[in-house]
Amino acid sequence: MLEINDKQYVLNTYARNYVNLIKGENATLFDDKNNDYIDFTSGIGVVSVGHGNKRVADAIYNQVSSITHISNLYAIEPQSLLAKKVVELSGYDMACFFANSGAEANEGAIKIARKYGHEKFDDKKFKVVTLENSFHGRTITTVKASGQSSMHKDSFSPYPDGFSFDASIKDIYDSIDEHTVAVMIELVQGEGGVQPLDKKDVQDLATYLKKNSILLIVDEVQTGAYRTGEFLASNLYDITPDIITMAKGVGGGVPIGIVLTSHKDLLVPGDHGSTFGGNYLSTRASLEVCNILESIKKDGSLDSTIRYFNLNIDSFYENNKKLFTQNVGLGLMKGLRVKDADTLNSIVSNAFEAGVLVLKAGQNTLRFLPPLTITHEEIDLGFKRLEDAVKNI
Ligand SMILES: Cc1ncc(COP(=O)(O)O)c(C=O)c1O
Repeated sequence: MLEINDKQYVLNTYARNYVNLIKGENATLFDDKNNDYIDFTSGIGVVSVGHGNKRVADAIYNQVSSITHISNLYAIEPQSLLAKKVVELSGYDMACFFANSGAEANEGAIKIARKYGHEKFDDKKFKVVTLENSFHGRTITTVKASGQSSMHKDSFSPYPDGFSFDASIKDIYDSIDEHTVAVMIELVQGEGGVQPLDKKDVQDLATYLKKNSILLIVDEVQTGAYRTGEFLASNLYDITPDIITMAKGVGGGVPIGIVLTSHKDLLVPGDHGSTFGGNYLSTRASLEVCNILESIKKDGSLDSTIRYFNLNIDSFYENNKKLFTQNVGLGLMKGLRVKDADTLNSIVSNAFEAGVLVLKAGQNTLRFLPPLTITHEEIDLGFKRLEDAVKNI
């Protein structure tokens, strides 16, 4: 029934598995036949504090029992508390705008950059440089900002002007011209293959951009909210971006997008907005998520989970060298390069049959984005099932 309804009434934009998942406990999911699955995906890096998290559920329940939504025409207490928390955890002198998704946060970032280019220079600067293998979202502008050429299908053209792409950080210097206002990067390219950028290259670029009054936008939609071990990957890379975007894990499953910027006075009323962005529901939930993540970072359990997961993935990689060519990623954002696309597809489907959910990134990367609260027992069981899944490939 699920499959029939879905196929008839939902637009066909995803290649779906029709399992009916009805319950979750931390990194374990259950289907309607009571089969259990270890979740190494957390809903593509979203359910950072695990499924069925009681603290988040209570925070949401208490909030929506009172007020779910007013509008941004009134102050929203949990929004201001979340903004304070996110800014404090970031360590940067910034302020926030609230949206509902990663793409929408990136749209906001690009608008801030464009306004900066308009206000600060006699001859308007507007061009944004990104990387060829990048992914920044699915709206018409963020599709254009995403460097992967497969994203720029003719069917959706024409696209907005003012975007160009470079193969690597080192190539960016040559493509900057008098109209370039910003460079936008992911520090670990997620959809592009779980590929971390080189720290020194990023730091050199950040210094160069600052010197030349060009903004650095870091898309932390996937890397943010402790995914790489620090609150932001920018903290790990020891840089100070001008604009940072977050979504996914910072909401723990509730839709939210955040733009942080040090250019606090650039936008004025009427410049930007969002009906749902920053409402009572999403900000109360996200505040609880941030509190939970902050405490597992402080008490050392996040670092211990990262170490344990990495020990397991390292031995899985070593045990199965015939399938994999590289072990990549940072923190709990990990990938194993698979020798070919067919093998990758077999691993993902065998893993599902064995009771463990894993992801693909592109055509050749097996991707792992487990909840940050995953237990050692869940990690053990997940990798045991993965070993079984690949035994006959
Ligand atoms: C780095 C990055 N930016 C932006 C997005 C788009 O986020 P959303 O799907 O919430 O719009 C994604 C989603 O995968 C992402 O990984």
